[in-house]
Amino acid sequence: MINKNLNKLSEQYLFSEIGKIIKSRQNVINLSVGDVKLPLPSAVVEAGKKAAEELKYKQTFRGYPPETGYDFFKRAVISYYNCRGTIIDESEVFASDGIKSDMSLFLNVIEQGKVLLPSPCYPAYIDANILRGNELEFYDGFPPKAPDIIIICSPDNPTGRAMSRIELTEWVAYARKNNSLILYDAAYEAFITNDAPRSIYEIDGARECAVEFCSLSKTAGFTGVRCGYTIVPKECGLNAAWRRVKSCLSNGVSYITQRMAECALTEALSETMSNVKYYADNAAIMAEALSGAEFSGGQNSPYIWLKCGDSYKEFYKLLDEFGLGVTPGIGFGQGGEGYVRINAFCTRDDAVTAAERLKQYSSLR
Ligand code: MLT
Repeated sequence: MINKNLNKLSEQYLFSEIGKIIKSRQNVINLSVGDVKLPLPSAVVEAGKKAAEELKYKQTFRGYPPETGYDFFKRAVISYYNCRGTIIDESEVFASDGIKSDMSLFLNVIEQGKVLLPSPCYPAYIDANILRGNELEFYDGFPPKAPDIIIICSPDNPTGRAMSRIELTEWVAYARKNNSLILYDAAYEAFITNDAPRSIYEIDGARECAVEFCSLSKTAGFTGVRCGYTIVPKECGLNAAWRRVKSCLSNGVSYITQRMAECALTEALSETMSNVKYYADNAAIMAEALSGAEFSGGQNSPYIWLKCGDSYKEFYKLLDEFGLGVTPGIGFGQGGEGYVRINAFCTRDDAVTAAERLKQYSSLR
């Protein structure tokens, strides 16, 4: 009776397992799961309070939210894209509580099939596709036999690499030629400071073959508040199907949350972006301490993907000898063996201390 695919999952979700190990030690700087530390801008909190107040009165009380999101929220998302020159229609924006859940819900729109995933890869994509019964293939370049679905994350989790315009253009051309659908995770787009695309829709033809998932978790400090959005362009032919699936499998996102998100993406946008910069600066501080070591990320990303040797052995070394809780690369699949991931969602003091310890660690290697 139980879904037999559950047997194919690892015993625990990566970040739960690593979180428990880190918690069992004392005085460790936790740079494992990417959980934000800065408080929310006060305008965002005020927007939430005001929305909650409205629920106190008969005239302004609200029940179920619209399944795909309130118009005011969709307009805020659209304006966030417009300021970068990307045009999206209101009917293409769907509110969500984050990428992990919306991407796995979205798999219901597509027939079971072959999914191409990056290697290493964010473990939630692997688990969601296993549960759905999809066949997994891990990429290093373009496979000759095209998959049904291609998952791309840029800037990537865990490697911190942002795809260049040329690389992404090649993926869009490959998907269109082979009739594949790209599921594009843009969770870390706000960290991009160079010419890399912040949305796949900056690439010509992407509207025909790509669905974009984004979240306010890392952009606006919403890991606890929970709000994101999915863009399903009309040209990809799945907009109506997704509306149907969304309406039966989700109750949407609360009014209070959407008001807070609206504020974070409009009125409080400059504070939102200065919080992103704070974490980006943390990443730069730690990356500088690692100069001479082999790593990717540290710029255009809150992650540093450090080459270090046996990933669990180095994880324990960093934990027990240097008081740093990182994530073993192997947790992101076979392609992650030999690496650890360090995240920069910490306080400035912790970033500075972690940088000193990382410098020491890498000098001893
Ligand atoms: C991460 O650290 O990769 C993410 O914060 C985990 C998540 O979003 O579930």
